Amino acid sequence: MTGAGSGIGRATAIELAGQGATVIVTDIDETTATETTEMIKESGGEALVVALDIGDESSVRMAVERTVAAYGGLDFAVNNAGLASHHRQLDQMGLAEFERVVHVNLAGTFLCMKYELPALQSRGGGAIVTIASNGGLYAIPHAPAYVAAKHGIVGLTKVAAVDYAPDGIRVNAVCPGPTRTPGFERVAAGTDMVAMQEAITRLGRMATPQEAAATAVWLCSDATSYVTGIALSVDGGRRA
Ligand SMILES: NC(=O)c1ccc[n+]([C@@H]2O[C@H](COP(=O)([O-])OP(=O)(O)OC[C@H]3O[C@@H](n4cnc5c(N)ncnc54)[C@H](O)[C@@H]3O)[C@@H](O)[C@H]2O)c1
Repeated sequence: MTGAGSGIGRATAIELAGQGATVIVTDIDETTATETTEMIKESGGEALVVALDIGDESSVRMAVERTVAAYGGLDFAVNNAGLASHHRQLDQMGLAEFERVVHVNLAGTFLCMKYELPALQSRGGGAIVTIASNGGLYAIPHAPAYVAAKHGIVGLTKVAAVDYAPDGIRVNAVCPGPTRTPGFERVAAGTDMVAMQEAITRLGRMATPQEAAATAVWLCSDATSYVTGIALSVDGGRRA
């Protein structure tokens, strides 16, 4: 579970543990990841914290190696870690900012999958869920790097679903709409984004992190054993 120290990642780690999974709680922020691990353990679950920067190949390789060494293998992976960038039109964005956003969101997800897939293969199958975004399917104004990266994640997900289906590995993307997480609150601070999102979402409210998490856990579960290669919106009917 990447990005498990906050928001959707924390909610997913807690839900996975609640369903009986042993969860490797990873985040670039070891303090918040440790908090999530403590929450899981206090509820009687099993979890191990591993510091991980998804943009750093050796960090990703070591996190997967540590998982396999500690528990004998990997059955599911939820690639959630990412960062937002929502306030700049394309011609106002420097190359460094574009590359930073694409590197963490897209290359970081690529690196995680690169090391997770062989671990799942050696286990005889499993499931990967990527947390993309509605921005992986549609435009978000003033978010060129984020939307390009999230569209890329949807593409990676579909190619991996096709290439690794013979190994019994399912790969799906969750595409949340606006979800009330610490990450969203940072982007929305000082703006009317919350009211605006509520007004244009059919269910009339933003999602909770638990609603995106429940979908990710469902896509890991046997309930979706014939589902692979999809990019599923969890957006309150926004795009209907
Ligand atoms: N909140 C929303 O409205 C929303 C909507 C669509 C998609 N998403 C996606 O959901 C995912 C989680 O978003 P959130 O809103 O919960 O964000 P958040 O900022 O609350 O949590 C993100 C977590 O990822 C971690 N992280 C950041 N960079 C990392 C790195 N290089 N390596 C490892 N961990 C790193 C952060 O430390 C943080 O704990 C992101 O991929 C985001 O793009 C969020």
